[in-house]
This record gives sequence, structure tokens and C-alpha cells, in this order.
Amino acid sequence: MNEFKQLSQEMRQAVTAEMKAVLNATEAPPDLFYGMLHYHMGWRDDQLQPADVNAGKQIRPVLCLLACQAAGGNWQQAVPAAAAIELLHNFSLIHDDIEDASPTRRGRKTLWTIWGQEQAINAGDAMFSLAHLALNRLVERGVSAETAVHALRRFDETCVRLTQGQHADMFFETQNSVSVSDYLAMITGKTAVLLSLCTELGALISGKDAETVHHYAQFGLNLGLAFQVIDDILGIWGDESLIGKSASTDILTKKKTLPVLYGLNQNNDLRQLYQQETTDETFVQQAIHILDSTGAREDATERATYYSETALGHLEEAEPAGPAGAALQQLSAMLLQRSF
Ligand code: IPE
Ligand code: IPE
Ligand code: MG
Ligand code: MG
Repeated sequence: MNEFKQLSQEMRQAVTAEMKAVLNATEAPPDLFYGMLHYHMGWRDDQLQPADVNAGKQIRPVLCLLACQAAGGNWQQAVPAAAAIELLHNFSLIHDDIEDASPTRRGRKTLWTIWGQEQAINAGDAMFSLAHLALNRLVERGVSAETAVHALRRFDETCVRLTQGQHADMFFETQNSVSVSDYLAMITGKTAVLLSLCTELGALISGKDAETVHHYAQFGLNLGLAFQVIDDILGIWGDESLIGKSASTDILTKKKTLPVLYGLNQNNDLRQLYQQETTDETFVQQAIHILDSTGAREDATERATYYSETALGHLEEAEPAGPAGAALQQLSAMLLQRSF
């Protein structure tokens, strides 16, 4: 039996129950304020009727809980941290979809396209605050106040870095040339630091020493870099019915994703195309055609593989134990090969 499958199923159930408790999700019909949050989480449809649809891959909470268990802790104690991180991730997605003008997420309309940008911003703010309240529940599971305060500080530091990464991501849309090192700093912020927080907090709550916690954090960070590079690839060549989001918006908004940076470096036609003020479907098709011919996809795949291998090196240093350790290795392999 695949350890990841077995462990992650039980962990996802525990995290969903925790998030429902924090988000006030009961059988009673919610008001529109909570209803918007429940819609985003896949627990309600756009009429606020009960639903149970794609709530995302939930890789962050599973990473957190597996790290806690693999580091010798009891994963149940880390459930509030796992739930808090998943809620923070969802806060970032609600705002990201406004920032990126994305019409779909997880195969459904984004919050802002249904209820408008103003209400979606407010719903994101609520999700952000609820994520903090979720983290406060650590002490109820017997985690010491000292560890909980440490976790809260790391949580907020990570959130600042995430918004810094989002700032760079949007700023780069308007820049003609962005270096690969600027790109790496940007994705470290917008994506990798949150995956790093997952494994860091899991190991911290297990009570491991600082050096082991550091290796877990580095494992998550490099996994996060690989994860974002794969997301960049799927944002151009992915199957929309699998990824649940548009495969044109990255190019329409001139996102400086890794394949695009590679193409801009290699190909003058692409550089000229990107001088164009406006973008449309023809622009997208022309850009993809050029990217196909430059080997941009292969270059990005190589980089993702490199980060994934670096991640596994840190995991080995952390000496993960038991089935949870095996599950972390399996998850790393799955994330590299993912098509959604
Ligand atoms: C999407 O994250 C945003 C990125 C950092 C690439 P996920 O691909 O983990 O989104 P869900 O939660 O599974 O929908
Ligand atoms: C992901 O941003 C990072 C955050 C949401 C913080 P992207 O814009 O690259 O992710 P998708 O493709 O919309 O999921
Ligand atoms: Mg974005
Ligand atoms: Mg986006």
C-alpha cells in the first residue's frame, strides 16, 4: 500500500473538520458572509446550497502533518497549524484571482466573478483573519504557549514574504526584461516560503532540534520552487479541464513565468511579440508556438527536477522516520509529475 495515500486520506479529513470548525460551517445555511467563504472552499454552491466539490489538492496541510509525524511527533497535535496554513493559502488565492483577473479556479467561477471584486477582497480579508484564529487553536491540542507564539511569528513573517512575492509577480508583468534570479526571488516569496512553513511548523511541533527543523524547512522550500515551476508549465501547456483554471491568463497578462523568461532570452520574435501593448487569443497562440520551438518547456522541467532533487537531499538529512517519511518521498515524486 502506498503510504502517502493511506496517511493523507485520514489527515485531509481531520484538516477539513478543523477548517469547518474555524469557518463556522455547520449544516445550517450560512449567511452570505460565511457563504462566500464556504463556496470558495467547495462546501457550498453559488446558491449557497450544500456541495462537496474539488477543494484543491490540499498538499500544504498534508505536508505539515506528514513532516510532524516523520519527525517523531504526533500529527494530530499539528492539525491546527495545517488548517491555518491551508486557510492562509486560500486567502492568498481569493486575492490572487482578483490580482490576476482569473475567471476560474478549481473548475469553478472565482469569488470575484460571482460577487464582485469589492466583496471578494473582503472575503479574502476574513479568510486571512480566520487563518490566524485557526493557528491559535494549537494550545488546545497541548502545544506549549512558547511553541505556539513561535509558530505565529513564523506564520506572519511568511505571509509578509508571500505578499512581497505577489508584489514582484505583478510588477514584473509591466517589465520587458526580468532576470532568472529576480524570478527565483519572486517565486520563493509567492509560493515556496509557504510550503517551507508547512514542513518547518510540522517539525517544530514535533519538538525536534533546530538543525532538523532547518532541514525540513529547506525540504519544503525546494519542493515549493519545483512546485511553482511546474505550475508555470501547466499555466501554458496544462489541460484546463485538469488544472481547473485558465491556461491562457498567464500569457494574456504577460506573466514572467520561467518558460516565458527562457523564450524571451532565446528568441527575438518572442521579444518583439511581447512589445505589443494589447494581448488576445492570437497573441497567446503565437507565444506558445514560439515557446514550443525554443525548448522552454524542457528547460523548465529540468529546473523543477533539480529543485525536487535538492528537496529530497534535505529530507534525507532530516532522517524522516516510518511510513510518514516514505509518504513525504512519494509526495515529492508525485508533485514533480503532476498534471493538475
Ligand atoms: C495554487 O496552488 C497556487 C500556487 C502557489 C501555484 P495549488 O495548486 O496548491 O492550489 P490548490 O489548493 O490545489 O487548488
Ligand atoms: C500563486 O500565484 C501564489 C499565490 C496565490 C500566493 P499564481 O497566480 O502563480 O497561481 P495560480 O496559477 O493563479 O494558481
Ligand atoms: Mg498570481
Ligand atoms: Mg494566479
